[in-house]
Amino acid sequence: MKGNNKNMFASKVGAILAAAGSAVGLGNVWRFPTEAGAHGGAAFILIYVIFMMFFALPVMITEFAIGRHGGNNVTHAFEKMSGGKRGWRWMGLLPVVSGIFVLSYYAVVAGWTLFYTYEALVDGFSGKSSEDFAADFVAFSSDSLQPVFWMAVIVAMTCGIVALGVQRGIERGAKIMMPLLFLFILVLVACSLTLPNAGDGMRFLFHPDFSKVDGSLVLSAMGQAFFSLSVGLGCLCTYACYFRKDVDLMKDGQSVACIDTLVALLSGLIIFPAVYSIPGLQPDAGPPLVFITLPNVFQQVFGGVPWLAYLFSLLFYLLLVMAALTSSISMLEMSAAYFHKNLRLPRPLAAVVVSLVCMLFGTFCSWSFGDWRDVTLFGMGFFDLFDFFVAKLIMPIGGLLMCIFVGWVVDERVLRAEITNNGTLRSPLYPLYRFIIRYLAPVGIFLIFANELGLLDFLK
Ligand code: PFF
Repeated sequence: MKGNNKNMFASKVGAILAAAGSAVGLGNVWRFPTEAGAHGGAAFILIYVIFMMFFALPVMITEFAIGRHGGNNVTHAFEKMSGGKRGWRWMGLLPVVSGIFVLSYYAVVAGWTLFYTYEALVDGFSGKSSEDFAADFVAFSSDSLQPVFWMAVIVAMTCGIVALGVQRGIERGAKIMMPLLFLFILVLVACSLTLPNAGDGMRFLFHPDFSKVDGSLVLSAMGQAFFSLSVGLGCLCTYACYFRKDVDLMKDGQSVACIDTLVALLSGLIIFPAVYSIPGLQPDAGPPLVFITLPNVFQQVFGGVPWLAYLFSLLFYLLLVMAALTSSISMLEMSAAYFHKNLRLPRPLAAVVVSLVCMLFGTFCSWSFGDWRDVTLFGMGFFDLFDFFVAKLIMPIGGLLMCIFVGWVVDERVLRAEITNNGTLRSPLYPLYRFIIRYLAPVGIFLIFANELGLLDFLK
């Protein structure tokens, strides 16, 4: 029975939760509210959802199709799906490389969230002023040891889970953490909505101001949609290798996209009412929103009831850690799978090797907030360079190439068979999906990508 193969996800639910775990991460709870805050709230969200539906989701389904067709080895998946066209073989290395790059800088921020969880646990926030929070964050993030330590802890935890294997590690981790994550979110939303001025936060989130729509908003919305759904790097190809043959790829893709958007919106419902409950505070604080503004807000709004401030802060940062972990697991797996399957290292050793590389690069990324502030390449510090390389280059190029590959290179019958599970599913949306993958998505991604790099200049 397929379900007993320990290199595959044992159940359909496990497959959805693992993919959703990869998608739901710091991108939803940290990056999304920050981007929405910086771009005027609802107008950003609306455009984000459009990109999600018409670009990111079809690319996700494409990744699923490539991965599952590859059957347990993502590096061979492209070659196999192309019917042996060897030129496409090198695309199989995409997840191997991008996994290392994305985890190296993601783990730095994930490490910050772990440190803030620890601070919340030992009640380190109480009695601090807003100036204290700002100064403490700058001091912590620019320190040469502390953030490196917490980054290494996150990578080690990730390594432990990946080393356990597909079913016992990745699937079980997702099955435990995803429901908990939802529970925490619901409790936090319920608390946040009872705060004074919660209505202002809701209005900010749901009342679109179209005067805010400009080129930079469109670019950010597309980048956010790709990052949030984990598409373009081959991460979902890797997971889809472990999908059973009876998984409905279209439906699963839609479920993951819905879960991901829901979590992003709910995170907004935690954060914006909280921010608006303090007179004079604005939600456009940028990246420090989660590490400076929010801990301060939690102390102030629940200040009269210390245990509530304690609990709210702790749950919030725990939520961030779990979201980060389910994503970092997928990042490590992308590269570790190659060392395990192609280079034949035992799985735990493969996970350790990749983790050590990520810890080394992660250290450079972390230092770029402190001692290595002035060390730049192409005008960027390590953290920004890695982020640029992954989110602005590999994601759009990877997404574009996958669309071209599946839309134009792969035999249409092979694609249809994969999407419809050999004709056993009706998949009425298949023609629309194919149209998007062949025309809309490649042209749209190319235009936006070219604009972002300054090759075209129509969105500025
Ligand atoms: N989707 C994740 C998030 O929203 O935090 C980030 C991510 C995971 C990006 C896996 C890329 C990836 F391959």
